[in-house]
Amino acid sequence: MKPYPAAAIILAITLAYSTFRYHVYGDASWAWFPLWTTNKALSWTAAALLASSYLVADKTDARRYGLLGFALMAWHCLVSLFLLGPEFYAKLYAGNALTAAALSSMVLGAIGALAFCCPAWASRAGVKESLDLSRWFTLQRMGYLGLALTAIHCLAIGLPGWLTPSKWPGGLPPITLMGFLTALMPAVRFVRR
Ligand code: HEM
Repeated sequence: MKPYPAAAIILAITLAYSTFRYHVYGDASWAWFPLWTTNKALSWTAAALLASSYLVADKTDARRYGLLGFALMAWHCLVSLFLLGPEFYAKLYAGNALTAAALSSMVLGAIGALAFCCPAWASRAGVKESLDLSRWFTLQRMGYLGLALTAIHCLAIGLPGWLTPSKWPGGLPPITLMGFLTALMPAVRFVRR
């Protein structure tokens, strides 16, 4: 499928999922919807688009998937840093300080964001022609590192919640688990080859 309709469909699904999990079955305030809930959907969509950029065969589509995913990922980082605090992310805090797991997750997420800057930069018009081809491929492959760090970012904050399915609102798995699995899709394809 072409990147723009695919992104719209993925975003609609992740937004519906987040809305049902946190507002319909969960008890999150609707006042949190505009930033907190949409941030969950956008971060999962970003992971899906970034992973898709390493799964589709067509190079033009791969570039668009990657750049769209990068833009949403950047938005997720900004909004998360804006919201970060015990009010919105109580389970990441012990008192007023981030837990060790949450702090590690944030640092790994930030390194992941930097790793994604490499393929995004290399995907700009004219860069491929101006670089040695092996260096260009190395920059593109940094996205795999970004995806691995995204998976660990989700695992580090999400794991305790993954192990208590009886507490999942509406029986819906946490988005950290969905993001973890989504980010690993290219690795799964690589192993199955
Ligand atoms: C500066 C870098 C980053 C920061 C500060 C950050 C912050 C956060 C925070 C606060 C959460 C919510 C945790 C929770 O509700 O339990 C989260 C979840 C998540 N992040 Fe990040 N993140 C960063 C980088 C990334 C990157 C590079 C990706 C790649 C797409 C990503 C994807 C996700 C996903 C898929 C989730 C799960 C959605 C959820 O449950 O809220 N994050 N991140």
